[in-house]
Amino acid sequence: MSSSGAAARRRAIRKSKGQRAAVKVRQRAAWMFFGGLAALAAVLGFVVLRQPRLPRIDASDVAQVELGSRIYANSCASCHGAKLEGQANWQKRMENGRLPAPPHDASGHTWHHGDEMLFRTTKYGALSYSPGYQTDMPAFEGRLTDKEIAASLAFIKSTWPPKIRSKQARIDSGSR
Ligand code: HEC
Repeated sequence: MSSSGAAARRRAIRKSKGQRAAVKVRQRAAWMFFGGLAALAAVLGFVVLRQPRLPRIDASDVAQVELGSRIYANSCASCHGAKLEGQANWQKRMENGRLPAPPHDASGHTWHHGDEMLFRTTKYGALSYSPGYQTDMPAFEGRLTDKEIAASLAFIKSTWPPKIRSKQARIDSGSR
C-alpha cells in the first residue's frame, strides 16, 4: 500500500516536471513570436518614415491658396498661362518632340491625377515619368519648398469648379 503510494507520488512529480518543461517551451515560443513582431514593426516604421510625406494640398485653405497664387504667378504662369490656359495646341508635340505646357484649368488633364502624382511632377519634373524623357517641365526641387509646391497646387485646385474638384478628390483617394 505505502510502496504503491510512493510510486504514484513519483509519477506525479515526473508529470509536473514535464508540464513545467512544456510551459518553458511555450514561453520561449511566445518570446520569439513577439520579438519577431517587434522587429517587423521596427522595419515597417523605418520604411514608412523614410517615405517623403505628402504635404496637404487643400483648395479650401485660404492662406495656402493665397500663397499658392503668388507662387503660381512667379513660377508657373510663364508656361502654364496666367489664366491657367496652357500653351496653344498643347496636345500636339512641338518640332523638337516635346509637349507644350498643358492648361491647369478644368479643360486640361491636371485634375485627372491624384495629389501625389501632381506633387511629384512639380517637385521632380516630368522627367520622373520615365528615365530619358525629354520635357520642358522643370523640377522645382531646390527652387521651391515642399510647402510652396503644395500651395501652388492648392491654388490650381481652387480654380476648378466644384464638380471637377470632387472628381479629382475621388481619383486622389483611389490612387492611395
Ligand atoms: C518652363 C515651362 C514650365 C514651367 C515654368 C512650369 N511647367 Fe509644368 N509643365 C510644363 C510642360 C511642358 C508640361 C508637360 C510635360 C510633358 O508631358 O512633357 C508640364 C506639365 C505639368 C504637370 C503635369 C500635368 C498633367 O496633366 O499631367 C503639372 C502638375 C505641372 N506641370 C505643374 C507645374 C507647376 C505647379 C508649376 C509651377 C510651380 C509648373 N508646372 C511650371 C512646363 C512648365
